[in-house]
Amino acid sequence: KFLVLDFGGQYNQLIARRVRECSVYCEIKPYTASLEEIKKYNPKGIIFTGGPNSVYGEDSATYEKAIFELGIPILGICYGSQLMAHVLGGKVETAPVSEYGRTEVELDNSSKLFDGVGDKTVCWMSHTDYIAEAPEGFKITATTPVCPVAAMENADKKLYATQFHPEVMHTEQGKEMIYNFLYKVCGCKGDWNMDSFVDDMIKSIREKVGDGKVLCALSGGVDSSVAAVMLAKAVGKQLTCVFVDHGLLRKNEGDEVEAVFGPEGPYDLNFIRVNVQDRFYEKLAGVEEPEQKRKIIGEEFIRVFEEEAKKIGTVDFLVQGTIYPDVVESGVGKSATIKSHHNVGGLPDYVDFKEIIEPLRDLFKDEVRQAGRELGIPEYLVMRQPFPGPGLGIRIIGEVTAEKVKIVQDADAIYREEIAKAGVDKGLGQYFAALTNMRSVGVMGDGRTYDYAIALRAVNTSDFMTADAAQIPWEVLGKVTTRIVNEVEHVNRVMYDCTGKPPATIEFE
Ligand code: XMP
Repeated sequence: KFLVLDFGGQYNQLIARRVRECSVYCEIKPYTASLEEIKKYNPKGIIFTGGPNSVYGEDSATYEKAIFELGIPILGICYGSQLMAHVLGGKVETAPVSEYGRTEVELDNSSKLFDGVGDKTVCWMSHTDYIAEAPEGFKITATTPVCPVAAMENADKKLYATQFHPEVMHTEQGKEMIYNFLYKVCGCKGDWNMDSFVDDMIKSIREKVGDGKVLCALSGGVDSSVAAVMLAKAVGKQLTCVFVDHGLLRKNEGDEVEAVFGPEGPYDLNFIRVNVQDRFYEKLAGVEEPEQKRKIIGEEFIRVFEEEAKKIGTVDFLVQGTIYPDVVESGVGKSATIKSHHNVGGLPDYVDFKEIIEPLRDLFKDEVRQAGRELGIPEYLVMRQPFPGPGLGIRIIGEVTAEKVKIVQDADAIYREEIAKAGVDKGLGQYFAALTNMRSVGVMGDGRTYDYAIALRAVNTSDFMTADAAQIPWEVLGKVTTRIVNEVEHVNRVMYDCTGKPPATIEFE
């Protein structure tokens, strides 16, 4: 195993993913992790991430010198490289010229890090400080016209540093560099793969649960579905899945979930579908304010789940579909609350259980999907787009009613069907229809209409923090529009949302 030590950089998770893509298991720990903790974890190597500070700042993230004396190979990236230089007696200064973006770097090929990379390559730079002088015992292994130490190393002590970011795509041979560090410097074996992970996890769940009872809140999304199937394979009928149909799911989604997890499906578990559509519509009647809607849906969901749990009685374990990005949020800096996100399947307050099981805690999203495939879950479920916990409730602007839910469900189903038919769904991060709260005048078959406008949205994104509006071919949008106005009652206008995030968000509320 391998360690990524987080100094508050933007790319900490990306670094961990790159390492895992090289079949090496790794975890992220904050720079506040003690030396003892790191020794106990005993990694094959460590990467120091970038960070927002200057090494001279008063509250800047730092680490004691002793970490460089453990004999564990270390690669410092960007801020991590400056920190290494600073702590070991080199000189870090504000660069006369900041470097941002693609930069051609000259490399010393005798370095193990650049084995097979060539003597010039394009790297991604983003820094205002730089290493002006490498510490004693270090050799400079890369330079740019304005950066005297773009990389340095002390090969005897297995300490390496790059000012540029090998983890991002724009560093053309970054993947080779990370591979070289893992395999040629750290001697990693590359034995991290999904089928052994899944087998091991099933075995360890079986041991842990023994003959105990397990409860799982199933939303039908990727994470909770994969977690549920893993548990079902481990303990069968000792598992009960509760699926709350709150009436804000996509068209036919409730039935699809039931088909997979219900008694007709392939898995051996207890499945309870709770149909509380009307209860949610009643609670939402007359409510227009987005945050209030989110709160009502979240709270009501937990109430329903608790009621079901009470009927089941005491259980030993509660399953959570927590995934790795939920676990590690870079602890540095606090961001403003834009929306009160909630996950259906979030932790209820009053369910009687002894322990939580989180089988996906160590996995990134694409790894969860891969685990799902290993478990034999149907592809359409494994590849499902993210769907917000409050569901269609936040894709209907303003008051939610049963009638509006039906409109947006039908429009969305047509949109998804046509996108798939045209084969343009592959690269898209997320796409859906929303119901604007706007009505306008139209003319249909010689008559005046006064009906709703549907908004279509499609975005390209990899992290859902930022997104661009996707360019869906005009013919496809035309076909979708014709079908929606013809087939969905009370819609006489269709619009396409061209806004990115920021300034908009992906969802409408
Ligand atoms: P926004 O609208 O904030 O969405 O740009 C970013 C991503 O998060 C999803 N989303 C949610 N997911 N519970 C969730 O589990 C929520 O309350 C929630 N709100 C938004 C959204 O679909 C997008 O993928």
